[in-house]
Amino acid sequence: MKILIIGASGTIGTGITGALSEKHEIITAGRSSGDLRVDITSKKSVKQLFEEAGPVDACICTATSGSMDDFGTLTEMDLLINMKGKLLGQVNIVLIGQHYLNENGCFILTSGIFADRPAKGATGGGLINGALHSFVLSAAVELQRGLRVNVVSPGIIEDSVKDSGPVFPGLRPVAMNGVVDAYVKSIESDISGNIIRVYG
Ligand SMILES: NC(=O)c1ccc[n+]([C@@H]2O[C@H](COP(=O)([O-])OP(=O)(O)OC[C@H]3O[C@@H](n4cnc5c(N)ncnc54)[C@H](OP(=O)(O)O)[C@@H]3O)[C@@H](O)[C@H]2O)c1
Repeated sequence: MKILIIGASGTIGTGITGALSEKHEIITAGRSSGDLRVDITSKKSVKQLFEEAGPVDACICTATSGSMDDFGTLTEMDLLINMKGKLLGQVNIVLIGQHYLNENGCFILTSGIFADRPAKGATGGGLINGALHSFVLSAAVELQRGLRVNVVSPGIIEDSVKDSGPVFPGLRPVAMNGVVDAYVKSIESDISGNIIRVYG
């Protein structure tokens, strides 16, 4: 398969790219590195990415930008900025990419554990990840030409614990292998509309 990975240079993207490149042709994309450049907050840039990539069988997105929040001072604008960087960026990848993916192609988006397990400082994360889950349920019903869409919802990954683990007491880290397997399962099976939770 020919697979476009957006956010390939990130923690999860690197793991997925390593695992999938053994069996598949990979095109990497990111804001500042990769075979192709894209800013997922821009519809124009997302469209240009699909034009440049040409026909692909799958598109994985692990790209994200955004920050933790302080509920006492959290504003609509803070939420909108984070939504643009993770929620609407990934929604646009599906809305635009549906016209470019090969028949029976597959999208895999990335959400996260805060959709289901709230943590201090992650109200925006919870809102965005929960919305991504709902989007995928609807998009799976709507997509044409045999296209599929799933979302992987990782827990805090062991590789990231040294940066963010202590911020989330009680959340048990998960192994990168388990998270990567969720993306591979989504690519190599025929499931659609699935929220694949990989929690510790
Ligand atoms: N790591 C974890 O423990 C964990 C746990 C739960 C959920 N998640 C979720 O999994 C996803 C990936 O996490 P990660 O830890 O792999 O993130 P990461 O290491 O910060 O990597 C993010 C990637 O996204 C790219 N990117 C950022 N903004 C972009 C934009 N506007 N357009 C295109 N590319 C952009 C970055 O490229 P540049 O560097 O070039 O900007 C980078 O390759 C995120 O949605 C995160 O919330 C992660």
